[in-house]
This record gives sequence, structure tokens and C-alpha cells, in this order.
Amino acid sequence: MPVTVVVGSQWGDEGKAKVIDLLSNQHDYVIRYQGGHNAGHTIVAGGEKYALQLVPSGVLYPHVTPVIANGVVVDPITLLDEVGRLSARGVDTSRLKVSSQAHLILPWHFAHDRLAEGSRGDNKIGTTLKGIGPAYADKARRTGLRVGDMLDRKRFAEQLAELGAAESDLLVHLGGEPLDVPAIVEQYAGDLADRVAPYITNTVALLHDALARGKRLLLEGAQATFLDIDHGTYPYVTSSNPTAGGACSGSGLGPRDLGRIVGITKAYTTRVGSGPFPTELTDALGDTLVEIGREFGTVTGRRRRPGWLDLVMLRHAVRLNSLTEIALTKLDVLDTFDSVRICTGYRVNGTAITEYPDRLDVLGRVEPVYVELPGWGTSIEGARRVEDLPNRARAFVDLVEREVGVPVRYVGVGADRDAVVERP
Ligand code: GDP
Ligand code: IMO
Ligand code: MG
Repeated sequence: MPVTVVVGSQWGDEGKAKVIDLLSNQHDYVIRYQGGHNAGHTIVAGGEKYALQLVPSGVLYPHVTPVIANGVVVDPITLLDEVGRLSARGVDTSRLKVSSQAHLILPWHFAHDRLAEGSRGDNKIGTTLKGIGPAYADKARRTGLRVGDMLDRKRFAEQLAELGAAESDLLVHLGGEPLDVPAIVEQYAGDLADRVAPYITNTVALLHDALARGKRLLLEGAQATFLDIDHGTYPYVTSSNPTAGGACSGSGLGPRDLGRIVGITKAYTTRVGSGPFPTELTDALGDTLVEIGREFGTVTGRRRRPGWLDLVMLRHAVRLNSLTEIALTKLDVLDTFDSVRICTGYRVNGTAITEYPDRLDVLGRVEPVYVELPGWGTSIEGARRVEDLPNRARAFVDLVEREVGVPVRYVGVGADRDAVVERP
């Protein structure tokens, strides 16, 4: 089938962008279907590093049409800024399409995100402060404005003025600063609307036409399975559905259109922000993982919390997303470890459990059960074929595959575009 979905199987930053870049060769459209500029997707190509937040990772290829679909929340300032920076580096962004049905992130959404996080004290989620949650909340409350609204300048200005006045009052009531509504109207219904307009498209029709013409589509997930608002560690989640089901609602493609569903899994685990993390390492080993894996956020620069690979999570991700294959990334980060651990089960009060807990308090109390494997003690960065991997590294990959029952199709052995082993 011509549609491939790429989803994060952990808490984000698994290396989705690198795999999307790799798969872009075989696809004509690369489509973001949820999230917004809370995503930080890094591609390293020929020593050049590209950090993308909103523009789909396929943009680097001239044969790819990048699409921001209806399920995404769009900050027009970030969008234009990113397009400008890519253009300045010689990347052609003229093919970019943005759904008229995608919701807009507006200045009050940033303010609400900041105020809400501030008021949560020790219980803060640790959001990226990009206004993501408040923008999706307005979408659900049916008070949001959409990208397509920018096309009717006069009406859009009226909508902004009306909403802006109410939001300004609300923000002051909540202890925040008032909004400069006339300035917002001028900027958003003026310059921003002018510059976003050329990209606005009926992307649902575009994608179905492309399918009918035999084109190949790649759906780029942002965030990840355990940040999913339904299936993640609620409330320590994002406000969208990164899981594969969200790829349908977020793009307008039907479930039967989907073919390959690739789960991107880091050979260990990281999480940014708060929330339970059974295999977390808070010791020197964790510091080593962060240091070697360069685990600092692309968007916020925050240190990511490190831990061992958790196959209870991965098995759950296989089910939630109907994963057809796994890309195991950053295996090279474990090169220098004397031994490595993989969590294969959980215990609660001494009893083994098989299901991923549906309650946060239970997840917070589980004890991981580990398998310990000897390290391989050599650099695998130059490996390009399975035969190039040391036996002990192969044993790590084989164990993952055996435990989760889904083929590990790719193994990441370095940040660069070419640093990957494709398994037969
Ligand atoms: P994403 O959000 O899932 O796209 O991942 P990020 O780009 O936020 O973080 C992944 C980081 O790991 C980036 O800096 C990538 O360049 C890097 N990376 C991806 N795959 C590999 C790999 O196999 N090995 C190493 N060493 N780095 C990788
Ligand atoms: P990519 O696509 C890792 C986390 C935030 C916070 C929670 C909610 O690069 O994998 P939000 O701003 O979305 O309301 O924050 O989700 N988060 C991410 N963590 N990678 C991401 O994206 C993330 N996007 C959001 O740290 O814990
Ligand atoms: Mg990231």
C-alpha cells in the first residue's frame, strides 16, 4: 500500500526525522498530521544539521511535496520563520502546502500555556510553552480559528478582535498581562495572512488525488505514543493523538489507506518534562547516556531524562499503532557500555503484570524486570550491513525483535543520514 506512517513509540525524540529523511527517497508526499512546533526534528545530511519544528522533514528532497495537514496546530510566525531559514540555506520550500482546516496558534494560546504551567507548581507538565494545549482546547471547544480563516481578511480581523478582547480580559482575570489586540489584528490579518495565503490548500483533496494518481505518501508523526492524549501518561502528555489512528483523523486519509506503520524506538529511553518513567536512570550511567546521546531538546534545550529500553512500553506501542516494523535508533550510543539492560516486564508489589498499566499511580509504582546483556565495546558507527555489527549488538536487536514480535527493519548507528543498517 502506498501510505507509510512513522510514529514515535516512546516519549518522543526517538530519531523520527532521521528515519523520515531515509524513507523520503521512496515517497512523494511527506505529511505532518498532528502536533505543532513543540516538535523538534533533526536531520544531519552531509555534515549539515537541520532542526525542523513545523515543516515536514521531507522538505530537503526536491521530489517531495511537504504537507501540513488538518490535524496540526500552526503558529504562522514559526511557520514563516522556518520557511525563511530553510530558503536562506538553499532549500526549496515553494511546494509546501498548509491545510485550510488546520487550527491556528494565536498569541493568547502562548499566554495561557505559560499561566497554566505557572499555576501548576510542582505538578507542572513541563510543556514546551508553545501554546499547543490551549490551541487544541479551543479546537475542542469549537472556538478556534483555522488557517483557512486567514483568506477572508476582513472577517478574520473581526474574529481576532472579538476573541482577542475576550481573551485579554480572561488573561488579566487569571493574573496575566492584557493583550495588545489592535496590534494582533494588524499583524495576523495583515502581514501574516498575506504571507501564509499562498500555501493554504485543501490538503484532504490534494492527498486523495495524489493517492488516486499512484503517489506514495509518508505520514510524519510528531511526539509519540506515550505522549498521546488518550494512550499516554495522562496528564503528562501532549494534546493530540500521535498514535497511528491520529494519522487518519489528522490527514483525512482512511484507515484502509494505511500500509506500513513504522515505530521509531531508541535503543534506550528518554523523556522531557514530568511524569512517570519506570526505567529512568538518575545515576551516573544516566548522565553518560545523556552525554553520549546528546540528549538535550532541539526546541527548548532542556536535558532529557534518560533510562533503559522498556519493552513493556514497546509491546503496548505495537498494539496501539498496529506497527508493522520497528526502526531501532541510536544503538551506537551504547557502544562504550560494559553491559546494557533491557526491561522485559514489570512487577507490582512483587507480582508480575503483563498489561501496560492503565493508571498513572500504578505505573509510578512498577518495578522493572531487566535482562542484562554484555556490551560490545566497539564503535558500530561504520556498520552498514547486519554482518558489520558485532554479535553482541546483534543479540540486543534480536532480543528486541523476539520480545515484541515485530521485525526490526532498521538499526540506527549514527546521526548522519547514511548511518543506518537495513535488515533483510
Ligand atoms: P525526533 O524528534 O524523533 O525526530 O528526534 P530528535 O531529532 O529530536 O532527536 C534525535 C537525535 O538523535 C537527533 O539529534 C538526531 O540527529 C540523532 N540521531 C538520530 N538517529 C541517530 C542514531 O542512530 N545514532 C545517533 N548517534 N544519533 C542519532
Ligand atoms: P518530538 O516530535 C519530546 C512533551 C513536553 C511535555 C509534554 C507536553 O520532537 O518527538 P506540549 O508543549 O506538547 O503541551 O508538552 O510533551 N513534548 C515532547 N517531548 N519530543 C517532542 O516532540 C515533544 N513535544 C512535546 O516536553 O512533557
Ligand atoms: Mg524531537
